[in-house]
Amino acid sequence: MSVTVTPFFHEQTGTASYIVVDITKRHAVIIDSVLDFEIGSGKISTQFAQKQLDFLKRHDFNLVCVLDTHAHADHLSAANFLKSQTGAYTVIGQGILNVQARFADKLNNHQVADGKFAGFDRLVSEGDIIEFGSSEVHFLHTPGHTDDSMSFVIENNVFVGDTLFMPDGGTARCDFPGGDAGLLWQSIEKIHALPDDTHIWVCHDYQPNGREVDVCTTVGKSKANNIHVGQQSNEQDFIELRNKRDATLAAPTLLYPSLQVNLWGGSLPKQENNGMKYIKIPLTVESKSWRDE
Ligand SMILES: [Fe+2]
Repeated sequence: MSVTVTPFFHEQTGTASYIVVDITKRHAVIIDSVLDFEIGSGKISTQFAQKQLDFLKRHDFNLVCVLDTHAHADHLSAANFLKSQTGAYTVIGQGILNVQARFADKLNNHQVADGKFAGFDRLVSEGDIIEFGSSEVHFLHTPGHTDDSMSFVIENNVFVGDTLFMPDGGTARCDFPGGDAGLLWQSIEKIHALPDDTHIWVCHDYQPNGREVDVCTTVGKSKANNIHVGQQSNEQDFIELRNKRDATLAAPTLLYPSLQVNLWGGSLPKQENNGMKYIKIPLTVESKSWRDE
């Protein structure tokens, strides 16, 4: 084995970001990076991402690329910041184009309308390979949570984004536009078809029953013990359970801030003519009794 995996846990959003290093050539990739964001004040900072940059510098590792498993709806990606600091290129699944198109009207942002600007340096599909040092990232398309979701296989590790949680956490929601519980089941079968000793690294841990943070399990343990898709489960029961649970969930607090940054590779919104940048929240107005002045 020639890679090491170092998780960094962002407590405010329960997100695990990873630095994977090819130790033979000291080349590194970062998976699912995070910007710090306070929704009340609009303050964006790079403390968490800077910790990862410091780690790379301290060990003299060379960052090759920054990968996102999907367009996250619960935290802001630091991909663009990390690229600006290191020259690393940014990567996401080809499905991001669908997600961008879907939200273009809702966010009144048509950067992608001419098909020229995706906000990422490289879009990948199942079967693609990215090399770093003497190691490789292999891509699996694992839709269901979102339709752009990809899982990354690096040696005996798979980085699953929100396709799976730890066994006691089950699975992520499938009710976002483009989400589909049946597709998620099939994607999980794809991950569970990897060798039993493959390490599964999850993107979130919400510490069920107050346990310590844990972000790594194995295919064998996930197949045996996952509370939603473990050995006692079947596809039909899973779809019913997932849909029933999703119907009770509120929109994530950082949904719109996340999308407005993450759809464009972690770029911040354009500066307006007063020199400020803004995050927009589309309003749904139930009463028709308002009069626009
Ligand atoms: Fe997600």
